[in-house]
Amino acid sequence: MTHDPRALRNAFGWFATGVAIVTTKVAGKDPIGITVNSFSSVSLDPPLVLWCLDKGSDTIDTFEACEAFTVNILSEDQKYLSNALAKSGDHSLAEVATSTGENGCPRIEEALAVFECELYARHDAGDHIILIGQIKAFSSEQEGRPLVYHRGGYQALGA
Ligand SMILES: Cc1cc2nc3c(=O)[nH]c(=O)nc-3n(C[C@H](O)[C@H](O)[C@H](O)COP(=O)(O)O)c2cc1C
Repeated sequence: MTHDPRALRNAFGWFATGVAIVTTKVAGKDPIGITVNSFSSVSLDPPLVLWCLDKGSDTIDTFEACEAFTVNILSEDQKYLSNALAKSGDHSLAEVATSTGENGCPRIEEALAVFECELYARHDAGDHIILIGQIKAFSSEQEGRPLVYHRGGYQALGA
């Protein structure tokens, strides 16, 4: 099938998602974070999640080398973090309130849920790679409202 990439992207945009920051730390480099909406739960036993990274990302070398990552699910009050960590070439967490998880990767303060993963598998997939993580620890808030992304913009979750 030949297709117009913009039309395809627009069609994908009908699938409303949450927004997450995936963080990692590899030896000899500063920790980084990138905004993603390709996160998905995969398996309960073992507990697995996945997300997809553009091969053109400035972060590709780091995520190709990582052995662990942490998925931080953003609240609607954390839109500024989503924007800050979606800027090309600037994935520093120096200005972000974080703590270090058991897997050595940054946990973002006040995220609605945090999944600390060890790398389970990395797959080639067209112009992206798929990273699958096995959850080693997680935390989840009791209340809050998620940041929602839909058709290229942030949306309020309906009541
Ligand atoms: C809401 C949102 C979701 C995004 N989801 C993804 C994603 O799932 N995978 C990805 O590789 N980039 C995703 N991006 C783009 C990256 O966050 C970032 O903008 C892009 O990687 C450009 O920076 P870089 O070239 O330094 O990586 C998303 C951006 C936004 C704003």
